[in-house]
Amino acid sequence: MFRLDGRTAIVTGAGQNSGTGIASMFAAQGAHVYVNDLLPERAEDVATRLRSAGGSAEALPFDVTDLDAVQAALTDRPIDILVNNAGIAGAEAMQPKPFAETEPSEWSGAISVNLGGVMHCTHTVLPGMIERGHGRIIGIVSGAGTQGVGIGVAAYSAGKGGAAGFLRSVALEVAAVGVTVNSVALGLMDNTGGSGVTDRLARSIPTKRLGTPDDVGALCTYLASDEASWMTAQTIPLAGGSITS
Ligand SMILES: NC(=O)c1ccc[n+]([C@@H]2O[C@H](COP(=O)([O-])OP(=O)(O)OC[C@H]3O[C@@H](n4cnc5c(N)ncnc54)[C@H](O)[C@@H]3O)[C@@H](O)[C@H]2O)c1
Repeated sequence: MFRLDGRTAIVTGAGQNSGTGIASMFAAQGAHVYVNDLLPERAEDVATRLRSAGGSAEALPFDVTDLDAVQAALTDRPIDILVNNAGIAGAEAMQPKPFAETEPSEWSGAISVNLGGVMHCTHTVLPGMIERGHGRIIGIVSGAGTQGVGIGVAAYSAGKGGAAGFLRSVALEVAAVGVTVNSVALGLMDNTGGSGVTDRLARSIPTKRLGTPDDVGALCTYLASDEASWMTAQTIPLAGGSITS
């Protein structure tokens, strides 16, 4: 079940952490995987590792905020599965101060990558999916886009919440032609490889652990599969119980 043989997938921002987890599981399930990242060396490194593990993978680096670059990379490559995983958080997208004290120039990254990048990639691959009568589009969003999470996260919440709303609307436009579109709203992820520095954060999660790249990869593999053909227009929390829908 949930095999992806014969499918071609692209995972954006797959050079580390969750994106690598998704790309790895897709390759293990038989997909040909384009490993995208802004940083070419990260994309190359992950693609090499997937091939070493017996998968079919190629690096395809580009910046999702650059529409010309997205179109150059994807227009002539038939894509069955798009995972919009590239995102920025941290200091690039969040300010350690309330929204009222921010400058508009401080919001641009949170919107251009977390929302604009999703729109660029989706717009570029969607016509081919509609023409072929099959497609899977997945957005990796955040609990920050579905519920308030505190000071400094407003612009990031706007980008992630905007992406989830955008994808739900696109889902309804293409639901009858074999293309499904869903989002996964992640809670706190362990990006340390389980080194233990996140124990304090983990105590705040009902399951007492943070999410892993494999957790995201497994749900995305289901959403990308033929078996998920009746699952569309959803924003699915994946957060160890810390986000309720
Ligand atoms: N880490 C968390 O706790 C958490 C929680 C909720 C949601 N998310 C979301 O999950 C996704 C993955 O998170 P992560 O923690 O693995 O992220 P990460 O920062 O570890 O990795 C993101 C990757 O995306 C790449 N990237 C950044 N901008 C890009 C661009 N413009 N074009 C192409 N690639 C770009 C980066 O180079 C990086 O390799 C993101 O969308 C993030 O917002 C993460």
